[in-house]
Amino acid sequence: MSERAVFATRIGAIAATVGSAVGLGNIWRFPYEAGQHGGGAFLLIYLACVLVMGIPVIVAEFVIGRASRKNVCGALRALSPWRGLHFFGYLCVLASLMIMSFYSVVCGWILEYIMQAVRGGMTGHTSQQNAEMFAQFVQNPWRSVMWTILFLLLNYLILRRGLKRGIERLSNVLMPLLAVLLLAFCLNSLFMPQVWQGLSFLFTPDFSQISPRMVVGAMGQAFFSLSVGLSCLLTYASYFKENDSLLRNATMVAVFDTLVAILAGVMIFPAVFSYGVAPEAGPKLIFEVLPSIFQQMPVGGLWAVMFFALLFVAAITSTISVSEASIAFFCEEWGMSRNRASLLNTVVSMIFGSLCALSFGVMSGFTIAGKTLFELFDYVASNVFLPVGGMFFCIFVGWLLDRKLVKDQLTNHGTLSPRMLKPLIFCVRYVAPAAILAVFLYGIL
Ligand code: TRP
Repeated sequence: MSERAVFATRIGAIAATVGSAVGLGNIWRFPYEAGQHGGGAFLLIYLACVLVMGIPVIVAEFVIGRASRKNVCGALRALSPWRGLHFFGYLCVLASLMIMSFYSVVCGWILEYIMQAVRGGMTGHTSQQNAEMFAQFVQNPWRSVMWTILFLLLNYLILRRGLKRGIERLSNVLMPLLAVLLLAFCLNSLFMPQVWQGLSFLFTPDFSQISPRMVVGAMGQAFFSLSVGLSCLLTYASYFKENDSLLRNATMVAVFDTLVAILAGVMIFPAVFSYGVAPEAGPKLIFEVLPSIFQQMPVGGLWAVMFFALLFVAAITSTISVSEASIAFFCEEWGMSRNRASLLNTVVSMIFGSLCALSFGVMSGFTIAGKTLFELFDYVASNVFLPVGGMFFCIFVGWLLDRKLVKDQLTNHGTLSPRMLKPLIFCVRYVAPAAILAVFLYGIL
């Protein structure tokens, strides 16, 4: 690629970045992690992680990406004072393939639920029947593998069309629509019988719930949800314009992403308690709860189709961004055409994605350290790779990069004078790396 792509408009750049952050991480993963780790206390620690680690890492990735206008390896090679650091980029590519693999499985579940909703397959079910329907579906090897592969094919078709046309158009229109729909569902949840129990589960911290596992989980969730630590935002920032404000974009990503996660919690938890689902149900949580929500609404089937369709769009704008990080790498480092790079990314994800899909059925007995392949990929990528990546990017920007270059990027060569600049740089240098390290030590010890 001699002429690098740039997002066509400022709004397009923001929408695509927010589209990357807002996805299943907010609507599927956040409620189930919060449910497993006791609700309010998890939310509190999650918010702290977004603030002290998430935002500094977003900024660090943005600086590296836009200053170099390259993929992660190329960027590290171009900016690093030391040789060899670009090998870190290979880890990012590995992590992105891991995330693609388990994420596509859940995207496949969404496709199945869209189809069920269209066919009216969920109407008249009790919540018990909804749970059984999900269990039967994920245990069926063909159905879940087929949907995973179909999803990756759709993802491939969008990737092939390149950056501007594919990603921008999609996210500009549909992300705001998803936000409106979420708000409507939150309102609906406020009229459920167990609304107070649900809201107090989510918003009243019970400090006895704080444990090493929970804190590591909250950190992993913050990184996963914000799309940081994997060079995905770095790659997007390499397509930003020179006069985009990195700080403003970073704030937008953090604010929207967090709002959507909280809205998802407000939508889900009153229903969890009203329909007698266990909050610690795990990855299946929203798939058991949502159908019950739709059922008690007038024209529930229609709401269900709309909701799952928009969730699908939110998910695909995220998978595109995960894939984009490795595609930029394959194109620029290995000299592949965009089409071939997309194909490689898709085929690898299909293989591992299918194995992850089978983790709920025929391969459920295959475990490593007590986790199925799906759980292992999710756990290792989110709770280990992303925070390690985030720490690396912060240290790189805070300690190894030329100070003037960092300042130039954050102030657009002196044309902006953000008030938060000093504290932010302080966080990138000291607070974020120290906090990530502290959580790891707390988690291990
Ligand atoms: N943040 C996205 C979500 O919440 C998923 C995602 C996209 C991601 N790009 C990423 C996660 C990069 C980690 C790293 O669904």
